[in-house]
Amino acid sequence: MKKFIPPPQSGHGMRVIICEDYAQLSKTAAQIIARQVRSKPTTVLGLATGSTPLGTYRELIRMHREEGLDFSRVTTFNLDEYLGLPPDHPQSYHKFMWDNLFSKINIDPQRVHIPNGLAEDLDAECRNYEEAIRQAGGIDLQLLGLGRDGHIGFNEPSSSLGSRTRIKTLTEETVRDNARFFEREEEVPRFAITMGVGTIMEARKILLLAAGQSKAQAVKATIEGPVTAEFTASVLQLHPRVAIVIDEDASSLLKRRSYYKYVEEKARELGQEPN
Ligand code: GLP
Repeated sequence: MKKFIPPPQSGHGMRVIICEDYAQLSKTAAQIIARQVRSKPTTVLGLATGSTPLGTYRELIRMHREEGLDFSRVTTFNLDEYLGLPPDHPQSYHKFMWDNLFSKINIDPQRVHIPNGLAEDLDAECRNYEEAIRQAGGIDLQLLGLGRDGHIGFNEPSSSLGSRTRIKTLTEETVRDNARFFEREEEVPRFAITMGVGTIMEARKILLLAAGQSKAQAVKATIEGPVTAEFTASVLQLHPRVAIVIDEDASSLLKRRSYYKYVEEKARELGQEPN
């Protein structure tokens, strides 16, 4: 029987890429983003906050400085923002993005979009955000972190899997998890404005990052659990083109861990780029 070898570049679907450590994870993620930006300089990127993408952003800044990675025509949409925090509040996602990425690359501020958590008419803010994504031609590559309760953006458990940009009430667990960035837990906003699960699923490509032992359970539920609104990241199993880049610790509970590693080895032999 003739041996079947899939043609290079045909292999999409879900790629699970297990990296040695956080540094390698950050490099791998930045390379995926850089490849996207180089192949389409007018790329529309969906961006995420949280501690996980920090290393990726540092690596993108390095690539901009040392390799001339050009963001001048890139458009960005952030996933979410806390309600009630002004853009210059130290814990606002606006401030996070400007401090950790935008102020250090050549992005055009006119092309940066982050939901406005101070909007007077929040419904209109949500509708306009969706419309702006549509006007930009949709998101080419969406970067995601992963909440311990399975949230992507701020789509907490029981979020409709078809949901659009809207206001979400944060779970107690999320408030506690995010309290580490605030002086007191009482200061953590209880509400956020977030792209919906449906909004995220419309991105052409998705890149989800998770690092550390504390994410191992969530990673397992994302990749190997049932698709359920109880755990919104699990819906990514239905996306046609998703790369999940994790470190060894975050991969520790995966049932098919060695299979994923084997598949990636083979994909590299076949020259199939991740995402
Ligand atoms: C917040 C953000 C998410 C992020 C999550 C995980 O809740 N809204 O987008 O993925 O935190 O954060 P970390 O990467 O710090 O674990």
